[in-house]
Amino acid sequence: MSEQKLYPVKANIADNCLLNDQQYLDMYQESITQPDQFWGKHGSELLDWIQPYTKVKNTSYDPGHVSIKWFEDGLLNVSANCIDRHLQERGDEVAIIWEGDNPEEDSKLTYNELYQQVCKFSNALKQQGVKKGEVVCLYMPMVPEAAVAMLACTRIGAVHSIVFGGFSPEALAGRIIDSNSKYVITADEGVRGGRGVPLKANVDQALENPDCEFVKSVVVLKRTGGEVNWNANRDVWWHDITENQAADCPPEPMNAEDPLFILYTSGSTGKPKGVLHTTGGYLLYATMTFRYVFDYHPGDIYWCTADVGWITGHSYLVYGPLANGATTILFEGVPNYPTSARMSEVCDKHQVTILYTAPTAIRALMAQGDAAVQGTSRSSLRIMGSVGEPINPEAWEWYYRTIGDERCPIVDTWWQTETGGILITPLPGATALKPGSATRPFFGVQPALVDNEGNVLEGAAEGNLIIKDSWPGQMRTVYGDHERFEQTYFSTFPGTYTTGDGARRDEDGYFWITGRVDDVLNVSGHRMGTAEIESALVAHPKISEAAVVGVPHEIKGQGIYAYITLNAGEEASAELHKEVKAWVRKEIGPIATPDILHWAEALPKTRSGKIMRRILRKIATNETDSLGDTSTLADPSVVDKLIEEKSNAA
Ligand code: WT7
Repeated sequence: MSEQKLYPVKANIADNCLLNDQQYLDMYQESITQPDQFWGKHGSELLDWIQPYTKVKNTSYDPGHVSIKWFEDGLLNVSANCIDRHLQERGDEVAIIWEGDNPEEDSKLTYNELYQQVCKFSNALKQQGVKKGEVVCLYMPMVPEAAVAMLACTRIGAVHSIVFGGFSPEALAGRIIDSNSKYVITADEGVRGGRGVPLKANVDQALENPDCEFVKSVVVLKRTGGEVNWNANRDVWWHDITENQAADCPPEPMNAEDPLFILYTSGSTGKPKGVLHTTGGYLLYATMTFRYVFDYHPGDIYWCTADVGWITGHSYLVYGPLANGATTILFEGVPNYPTSARMSEVCDKHQVTILYTAPTAIRALMAQGDAAVQGTSRSSLRIMGSVGEPINPEAWEWYYRTIGDERCPIVDTWWQTETGGILITPLPGATALKPGSATRPFFGVQPALVDNEGNVLEGAAEGNLIIKDSWPGQMRTVYGDHERFEQTYFSTFPGTYTTGDGARRDEDGYFWITGRVDDVLNVSGHRMGTAEIESALVAHPKISEAAVVGVPHEIKGQGIYAYITLNAGEEASAELHKEVKAWVRKEIGPIATPDILHWAEALPKTRSGKIMRRILRKIATNETDSLGDTSTLADPSVVDKLIEEKSNAA
């Protein structure tokens, strides 16, 4: 089987890898059998503490008493670890390379400059009234100031809650309200793929929601100089509040378990959850995974294409790289603008050595063939990563051969917003690769497979992926709703962390992630709950019911297929088709726009009124000869009707 082929791992990184296979196995063993010793040692080696910890792991997955604490009596500051401690040795080295959407725009920020900017902005935030422990919402474009704002929050002990700039005003308002963010930081406009994104206008619209009245101030960065509306009681310019501030600001000593940030993510039910990460364990885990997964060496130029609005942007664009004193590239644009060679061109321009991107970007470039590498050498690359969704072996091979010229090991990193950092991944120099497999667990991570009844499956098997014990980067709670945290992650298979993913383990013990086993979609690496899209759809005045399922999509991985029943008297039309798509964009954002609308007369329901999604999935993917048992339906004739209607779905 070609997918089982083992790839050489040391082709280009010969002798100076951080780890070999035996070292990985030894360290892994220690991390599992003696977690206190293992993490205690690495915690003090990799981070600077204001007050050292005396306790390391104190965690419980016991039903009803889930509690996760790491380094609980230690004090540290994240921005001091990401900036201050590097100044003496590498103050003049570049911390952030900014590459604009326009290929002619770029800039560099040294660690010294980053220090000054962060201190000034920290002082500005304090002057705005931001207090330790308060939540600050960031709705920012991909500019260095996004990282500056994050780090400034951590410096003064404020908790950031970043909302991806592609989310709609409605979605933004929901997150501001749930997290109780009295402060919002944004920009006049963002720029992506040659087009403007009206960030400030979106904030204005979000804050029209009467439940957002508690918002005290909106800090606006001038990115494009585009025109914006101004509310003098509330809005301040970034440059106005920052320019006269002192260029130093003492880092606030934070307890390891103090909240660091909230990040919203979708689940199978209800509204998006505010995933809460804390200070010490998260930072150690981001720092250590960055170092070993990307085999980081001083001098590397590291480029992660993720947006700061996602967890990858938190852990592997900002915190992991900067805590290691690395040079990280922050890219404002998209991998295929102005042409599909852009990603390769940026690699050459900045001599990128480590590239971390997503399967959806790889597939989109692969569809353009050689145009994606035209006129570029990419010879600086030595390691390439993939994240966000399963990478199909075909895309893996293309990435390996065409982008990496068969020189660079690929690290297919499996993790989640909830896990804070990478849990299952190859390590360059240590792990033989199999295209499509995330391979083996990182230190301290104990994955297992269980069947639907919770029986542990041994050896080569396929089942639900669970994690048996805690690791330092794990989320601590759902913001404001600890019960939901326990319910979502610790009740299905009590005593373990439920990932929501399915996986297969092969005879070599390698893991192959098969995708979500719950009602969560992964569209272009963006995670969305079917329930969330459905509730946006039924909020439309003409829609009576909706059911959403995922269907395979060539580039996006999954596409969104929406079954819609209209209110009595309403007619499906081309106009309504457009209107409904625009509606979802408005309610959630462009990433949630359905790919296909299926006007249904009725949905298949059990006698107790439960929608049978299994049947809807089969119909959407044309697997109508394997519909399974339909006899429990209240009205089995609905199925034939749906199959008939399918020809009009578009
Ligand atoms: C879900 C988490 C991890 C940061 C970006 C996404 C899927 C993620 C992989 C991978 C197969 C993957 C899983 C996971 N996923 N990485 N390498 N192979 N699947 O974070 O939005 O929290 O989504 O993304 O289904 O549960 P997220």
